[in-house]
Amino acid sequence: MGEHFIQYVDIHKSFDDKQVLSGVSLGIPTGETVVVLGGSGSGKSVLLRHTIGLHCPDSGRVLVDGVDITGFNEKQMLETRKKVGMLFQAGALFDSMTVFENVSYALFEHTDWETDRVRQRVAEVLGYVELENVNELMPSDLSGGMRKRVALARAIALAPRAILYDEPTTGLDPITANTINQLIRSLQELLGITSIVVTHDIQSAFHVGDRIAFLYKGNILFEGSMDEARSTDEPILKGFLEGGGYG
Ligand SMILES: Nc1ncnc2c1ncn2[C@@H]1O[C@H](COP(=O)(O)OP(=O)(O)OP(=O)(O)O)[C@@H](O)[C@H]1O
Ligand SMILES: [Mg+2]
Repeated sequence: MGEHFIQYVDIHKSFDDKQVLSGVSLGIPTGETVVVLGGSGSGKSVLLRHTIGLHCPDSGRVLVDGVDITGFNEKQMLETRKKVGMLFQAGALFDSMTVFENVSYALFEHTDWETDRVRQRVAEVLGYVELENVNELMPSDLSGGMRKRVALARAIALAPRAILYDEPTTGLDPITANTINQLIRSLQELLGITSIVVTHDIQSAFHVGDRIAFLYKGNILFEGSMDEARSTDEPILKGFLEGGGYG
């Protein structure tokens, strides 16, 4: 498995003639949470999506659990998608399905479990995110924070080894955001999950992260521990941390 559960090696990615990632190399230590910071449009979501094959790099390699997944087809990617859950930026629940149907979807898709066992697992993961008696509710019945929690329950249903969080607290009030931050930490501590958290929210970053990677102009401008980030001399990162933007 190695010391890095996820590894990006010299990733280049352009769309049409717009270069988004120009040589990103980054390792995510097994069992740790790495926060990826960067301005809007800096390629944070694009980088995350490479991890489960939603983008393929123009050049460079992506390794997950020691397996080079670069260029895998959909079928080859299945094992990786079981190992790595993703909480999408937009929440992305299926609006026409109940909470139970949303959370159980991957279980029916990827396991041959009986309905009872699926029900048990759904209750268990909804318990992790502190929800109960919500099986029959529709996404439109839920608050923003509950929607995020259901999406998180769905992301962990298959017991992934890693979770990718794309802006997990954006658009939530501070109290709900804090609940989500605590959940991210407790999933890491409880289940030993490796995480990448993409966020604009500096406070949240310091709450959940073990390390910070700062994406700027297509490259990782800084990578280090939270303490190293706090005392950094890197002027652009410093401005970003102090001002919540490029100062
Ligand atoms: N599928 C796509 N096709 C074409 N361009 C894309 C695609 N996905 C992303 N891009 C472009 O790549 C750049 C980086 O996008 P990305 O979504 O990764 O930014 P981000 O850092 O996540 O920003 P935000 O903080 O606003 O979510 C943007 O210019 C975006 O328009
Ligand atoms: Mg994004």
